[in-house]
Amino acid sequence: ARDAGTDLESVLLTEEQVQTRLREMAAEIDAFYAGSEVLLVGVLKGAVMVMADLARALTVPVTMDWMAVSSYGSGTKSSGVVRILKDLDTDLSGKHVLIVEDIIDSGLTLSWLSANLGSRGPASVRIATLLRKPTAAKVEVEVSWVGFDIGEQFVVGYGLDYDEKYRNLRDIGILAPHMYG
Ligand code: PRP
Ligand code: MN
Ligand code: MG
Repeated sequence: ARDAGTDLESVLLTEEQVQTRLREMAAEIDAFYAGSEVLLVGVLKGAVMVMADLARALTVPVTMDWMAVSSYGSGTKSSGVVRILKDLDTDLSGKHVLIVEDIIDSGLTLSWLSANLGSRGPASVRIATLLRKPTAAKVEVEVSWVGFDIGEQFVVGYGLDYDEKYRNLRDIGILAPHMYG
């Protein structure tokens, strides 16, 4: 069996740090949306853990829906051309939409997604992400709530994968270079 612990170079954020920060973000989000209902839109698959914990930390009434998208690349991870693999089941008319993400890397996924959802007649579209990389600064995407600004390292755990693995780690860790193969 895999021992994920030995695949990591170090732990970047412990489970406790993540949970503490999510509760702080939830308090801000609660205050911001006080008196309204919010539709949380999680982006599969990385956002599942953030969605589950953030949603449970909120006290405003929420509904939850999911999208799966895939960005076409010419070798690179993101190209900005995004294809919908699974669309929302929900009509966005008049709704306050909060997109929930695990990480913003290039920012291309979210810049496309927020524009796409924004064209469906919602009352508002905002973004909450647990992590943001410095590379995200290159793309114009307005993020209302950010958990942690991190460095360039390749991070896994708490929803974040490398080759679909490590999503179930409780901490967020930096993958050991020898694991890149
Ligand atoms: C990752 C991550 C974000 C996106 C960020 O998803 O979960 O959704 O990349 O990248 P960007 O800012 O450069 O667009 P990925 O496409 O790996 O799918 P996954 O969530 O299923 O892992
Ligand atoms: Mn993702
Ligand atoms: Mg991924």
